Amino acid sequence: MSNILEMQNITKRFPGVLANDKANFQLKRGEIHVLLGENGAGKTTLMNILYGLLQPDEGEIRINGEAVKIHSPLDALAHGVGMVHQHFMLVPNMTVAQNVAIGKEPRKGPFLDLEQVSRRIRELSQEFGLDLDPDRYIWQLSAGEQQRVEIFKVLYRGADILILDEPTSVLSPPEIEALFKILRSFMKAGKSIILITHKLNEVLSISDRVTVMRRGQVQGTVQTDQIDKKQLANMLVGHDVVLPVARQ
Ligand SMILES: Nc1ncnc2c1ncn2[C@@H]1O[C@H](COP(=O)(O)OP(=O)(O)OP(=O)(O)O)[C@@H](O)[C@H]1O
Ligand SMILES: [Mg+2]
Repeated sequence: MSNILEMQNITKRFPGVLANDKANFQLKRGEIHVLLGENGAGKTTLMNILYGLLQPDEGEIRINGEAVKIHSPLDALAHGVGMVHQHFMLVPNMTVAQNVAIGKEPRKGPFLDLEQVSRRIRELSQEFGLDLDPDRYIWQLSAGEQQRVEIFKVLYRGADILILDEPTSVLSPPEIEALFKILRSFMKAGKSIILITHKLNEVLSISDRVTVMRRGQVQGTVQTDQIDKKQLANMLVGHDVVLPVARQ
């Protein structure tokens, strides 16, 4: 499998904080790659750089082998990179189709062709199991459904690389299962996924590979089927940890 994305020596300083310290990250085409790290490890910063929300102080980004400069989310989308944030940015008193259309309106003469958007929502919804009704209002939707609208928006804009920042933090366990099923169907369709989390169980259940960050530095990237929970926990905190024994 070839690398669709390479981030090399990414450094980002905030006043008093080295948020990313020569971070290296590689993503293969068609994989689900977890970015794991504790609070403040620098995960969101690294992905905000990839999505053009922040500029790195140093470092290089390559997409499909070519060095690129990403100055804004529009640039990122033009390179096939889309991001779903922890906090949704949907308009509650507009429908799913209207929210998807904002900023990317297909025109039929002078009019916004919402029918075309709705049709696409139904098609892609079916293909990937998103289960979205284009005519419902955002305020009527559960957190899981709103997240699927955000995911759809990114897909609709043609993203090949999908970044999800702590997507499971707002979801119930059945909704997490539903999300993981959707992510696997993206993977089968050749999309590449970066999922940020700090939960070890999620790494083990969904990812092909995992990159661990600690205090702005990348600790390493490993194949998920070649590591166990304890090793992962050690990488996460940087020393030996004793995992709590599950009660019978
Ligand atoms: N805009 C900012 N201005 C100043 N400092 C920031 C800014 N964004 C992040 N930081 C700092 O950079 C460091 C890395 O933060 P980041 O949000 O990337 O971590 P994270 O791994 O996503 O953590 P979390 O799991 O809490 O989301 C933290 O010390 C944070 O306080
Ligand atoms: Mg974060």
